[in-house]
Amino acid sequence: MAHYLNDISRTFSEYLLIPGLTTKECIPNQISLKAPLVRFKANEEPAISLNIPFVSAIMQSVSDHKMAIALARNGGLSFIFGSQSIESQAEMVRKVKKYKAGFVISDANLTPENTLADVLALKEKSGHATIGITENGASDSKLLGIVTGRDYRITRDSLDKKVKEFMTPFDKLITGEFGISLAEANDIIWDHKLNCLPIIDNNQCLKYFVFRKDYDSHQDNPNEISDADKKLLVGAGINTRDYRERVPQLIEAGVDVVCIDSSDGFSVWQKETLEYVKNTYGDKVKIGAGNVVDRDGFLYLAEAGADFVKVGVGGGSICITREQKGIGRGQATAIIEVAAARDEYFKKTGVYVPICSDGGIVQDYHMVLALAMGADFIMMGRYFARFDESPTRKLMVNGNYMKEYWGEGSNRARNWQRYDAGGAEGLKFEEGVDSFVPYAGKLKDNLDITLGKIRSTMSSCGVTSIIDLQKNGKITLVSSTSIIEGGAHDVIVKDSRNNG
Ligand code: IMP
Repeated sequence: MAHYLNDISRTFSEYLLIPGLTTKECIPNQISLKAPLVRFKANEEPAISLNIPFVSAIMQSVSDHKMAIALARNGGLSFIFGSQSIESQAEMVRKVKKYKAGFVISDANLTPENTLADVLALKEKSGHATIGITENGASDSKLLGIVTGRDYRITRDSLDKKVKEFMTPFDKLITGEFGISLAEANDIIWDHKLNCLPIIDNNQCLKYFVFRKDYDSHQDNPNEISDADKKLLVGAGINTRDYRERVPQLIEAGVDVVCIDSSDGFSVWQKETLEYVKNTYGDKVKIGAGNVVDRDGFLYLAEAGADFVKVGVGGGSICITREQKGIGRGQATAIIEVAAARDEYFKKTGVYVPICSDGGIVQDYHMVLALAMGADFIMMGRYFARFDESPTRKLMVNGNYMKEYWGEGSNRARNWQRYDAGGAEGLKFEEGVDSFVPYAGKLKDNLDITLGKIRSTMSSCGVTSIIDLQKNGKITLVSSTSIIEGGAHDVIVKDSRNNG
């Protein structure tokens, strides 16, 4: 006979937090949201911590280098999607590691032999008005000039006109030396009244642009997470098939942490992958695994060496795994059980293996509930997909701006292997949908609001850190009638935007 569990699978919306005593220590701006990312021994610090407990999902429609840069600058971490070639994933990792605030790697370049038509097409495609003109049309190649909107007049110039006839040539350019600080670059910009300063190395190769218009956005990011060389931290998704080739190239590109990406991580293939990566690369890279939803799954991956374990099957907003396969568990119930297993493992071994709640966050308050239930940090797809920094198109749909968002198990992602258990056959059905999510603007603006709410909830609960919340938070189940009581009710709401 099959085993029956006695619990009911519950989700976040079925719970609330009960306020605790708020003291003067619990004012929101004193609350720490620091979270361990990887395993550590009692009385030791984790090798990597997050300054905010958020990571972005390992998905084509969420985590590329742009998202990774924006999130690391704000204290969280992205896992760059693995459903792409090893080379292009490694290149994205490299871009994050090369990032220097204010120094923009030019990804819109042409050669002097190109035409005005090429300039206009590139401008349209890349959205950049400043185009580097280099020997072979790539960045990191010899800089021969630049083209900006001031170099041509569409109404007067022929589209066939060669770039070399209207670019500002190298000998007329003021440039900065590779290695100068941002403050020095900005001084040159102000002294020479420039809009853009190309930064070149000893061989005249184009390394970066520094723009006057970015000056204001160069303020400090106090939450930024970086390595010993002050380079931003970045993660990447891997799978249980090509890890022998993928992991070394990601390490070579500078990745800090990888994560085995699967909707069902309780498998012998994950154990083999963990053991191989640990034995071959030791401390060169950290590795997370998942997803699991119970004690057995957690202990299996923790014992196999996972640096963190991801929790959640079937709760993702674009996910239809439960409908298709009948596997999964309510996210709240999964977190509560796995958190208990993590604590039990810590007591027994003295090793703390952080857990990540993955998927199913709809309201901001679900985040603080996930943390109170024991999650160390939270992975989100839908939340981040809505921002400017996500890799997908922003489209007008029925009068509203939307961003595209599709599951890794959807036909669009064509990533079948992720959702099979390692067999060669591959699955023939979808586990995810292709969708739109409402466009929400810049990551930082939204994050500030969300984090403000989390701090405010923690303040109400009378706690000053995530560990404090996990130990002392009081959680209650809610009845369906009291859920109705929790929203605006028995009034006619004037502006529905405030209720989102
Ligand atoms: P969300 O934050 O609720 O949108 O959930 C994101 C999570 O859904 C990801 O981190 C994955 O764990 C999961 N996921 C991504 N793509 C798929 C899919 O196609 N099917 C099932 N789950 C998916």
